[in-house]
Amino acid sequence: MGTVSRHLDRAIGVFDSGVGGLTVVRALMERLPFENIIYFGDTARVPYGVKSVETIAHYARQITEFLLRQQVKLLIIACNTMAAVAHQVVDDLSPVPVLDVIDAGARGAVDVSRTRYVGVIGTPATINSNAYARAIHRYDPAIRIFSQACALLVPLVEEGWLDHDVTRLTAVEYMKSVLCHPIDTLVLGCTHYPLLKPLLRNVVGPSVHLVDSAETMAERTAHALDCRGMANPGREAPEYVFYVTDVPLRFQTIGERFLGRALSNVRVVKW
Ligand code: DGL
Repeated sequence: MGTVSRHLDRAIGVFDSGVGGLTVVRALMERLPFENIIYFGDTARVPYGVKSVETIAHYARQITEFLLRQQVKLLIIACNTMAAVAHQVVDDLSPVPVLDVIDAGARGAVDVSRTRYVGVIGTPATINSNAYARAIHRYDPAIRIFSQACALLVPLVEEGWLDHDVTRLTAVEYMKSVLCHPIDTLVLGCTHYPLLKPLLRNVVGPSVHLVDSAETMAERTAHALDCRGMANPGREAPEYVFYVTDVPLRFQTIGERFLGRALSNVRVVKW
């Protein structure tokens, strides 16, 4: 452990490959309304989900170093792809605790599945890493997992086609290989998929639980802060700062959809 600041009003550092991690920030704002948050979205280099493990790990290292320089008290890997292939890299660098969406999603799936047949969807990097299967099996080795990489869903969400026939057809096609098994739970293993919840609910039917790792993540964060005595005791309105690596216009527009509120305090990072 390095020198860890004990100031409890230090921000929580949340990072993602782009705008998608704002679904996690949204859940955190609701669950932990007095915590300061610094968000980092690597908008110049998104998407990560179709890149190599080496490249994703290199980017994750840079972002971690940046957030640690901001003196965050906790790091949250909101990006499923980075969590899947670079959790160890982040953990090795960090003197502060590191949480990630994969562990949160896995725990959520184990808690709700009764049939023990679970589907997982995510980016190609996430699915190829098998990280969700490993995380779920750590909690319950008897669960059968059926995963499917859905490379086209991220661009469709970014396009704003949340309720569009093209997105519906794409989802139906991807879900065929998962829905031919008697799953009762589907893990939305990508930051972007919570925005497709109504459409996916329609595709998978009412009997399948949709596990939204953003919500589970907020719950896990609250628990981690409590257990470690790290929650901010202050009751002032928190400060939210958003760092991006590309011109912020697109982040701002799409981000407000992800966040469900106006986005201010957006700053561009020059590496
Ligand atoms: N944030 C990524 C994830 O959750 C999706 C976007 C990307 O491919 O970079 O996997």
